[in-house]
Amino acid sequence: MTTNEVIAKVKRLPAVSQAALKLVSLLDQPAVSNEDVVTVLKYDDVLTAKLLRACNSPYFGFEEKIFSVEQAVLILGHQQILHMVLSLAFGGAMSTTLPGYAIEARELWSHSVTTAVAAEQLAKNGLPMELEPPVAFTAGLLHDIGKLALNQVLDADAQSAIRSRIAQSQFPRNLAEREVLGTDHAEVGARLLETWRLPDEIVEAVANHHHPVSTPVPKLSAVIHVSNGLVHLIGSTLGWDCYAMTVDARANQALAVTPQKLESLMIEVHDSAKQVEHFMNLA
Ligand SMILES: [Fe+2]
Ligand SMILES: [Fe+2]
Repeated sequence: MTTNEVIAKVKRLPAVSQAALKLVSLLDQPAVSNEDVVTVLKYDDVLTAKLLRACNSPYFGFEEKIFSVEQAVLILGHQQILHMVLSLAFGGAMSTTLPGYAIEARELWSHSVTTAVAAEQLAKNGLPMELEPPVAFTAGLLHDIGKLALNQVLDADAQSAIRSRIAQSQFPRNLAEREVLGTDHAEVGARLLETWRLPDEIVEAVANHHHPVSTPVPKLSAVIHVSNGLVHLIGSTLGWDCYAMTVDARANQALAVTPQKLESLMIEVHDSAKQVEHFMNLA
C-alpha cells in the first residue's frame, strides 16, 4: 500500500481545530503580533472557551479572572498559549487506545508531551543550528500522530507480521511497518500534517524522525529523533515500541549531545513532570 492508499482507507481522521492549525502555521512567520494570535483564536468559540477555562485553572493561580483571549495572550505570552492550544486541540484524539500498537489510553499522549518538552529543552539549551523552541515543541508533540491513522488499518495479520519482524529480526518499528504495509507511521503522519498545511520544517521532522537528517547540517528531524530516544530512556512506555527503539549516534553527534549533556537533559525533562502533567490534564 502507498501512503495515500493508507490515508484513503482510514475512516476517522482526527478532527482538529482549524484555529489551532492556523496558529501552528504562524510559527513559519518572522514577526507575529499578539493581535495576529488573538485574531486566529477568535475563529474558534469552543477552543476559546476551553482556553479561558484552562487559563483560570489552579495551575496558574492568577488572582484576577481572565475573561478574554486578548487578556490571555497578553498575560501568558505566545509560547504558553501555543502549548495550551496544541494540548486542547490534539490531546483528546491522542489519548485513545491504539490496539494495533498495544498502546493503552493516554500512553501516546504522555509520550508525545514528554517528547515535546524534551525537544523544546534541547532547543533552549543551544544547538548547532537555529531552532525556535516552539517549533521544536510542536514537532515533538506531533511526531507519532501517524499512529492514529495507521492503527486503523492494522488488522490482526498485519500486527502479527510486524511483531514477528521486530521480535525475530530486530527490525525497528518503522521498518517493520514499511515491509508489511508499504509505508510507516512517520510517513503517514507527515502526509497528515501536509494536508493540514503545517510548516515544511515540521513535516520534514515528522517524516524523518526515525531516520534523521544529520548532515551536512542537522535538521529538526535529528532533534526529534534524539528527544524521542531520550523519552524512551527515561522510561516512558509506549506499547512494545520501546523494545524496538534505536538512536542514531550520528544524530547525537550532529547536535553535540554528549553523554553528559544527555544526562542533564534527562534530569531537566524529569523535572518538568509538573508541566507535563498540566498538559496531560488539558486533554
Ligand atoms: Fe515514531
Ligand atoms: Fe515516538
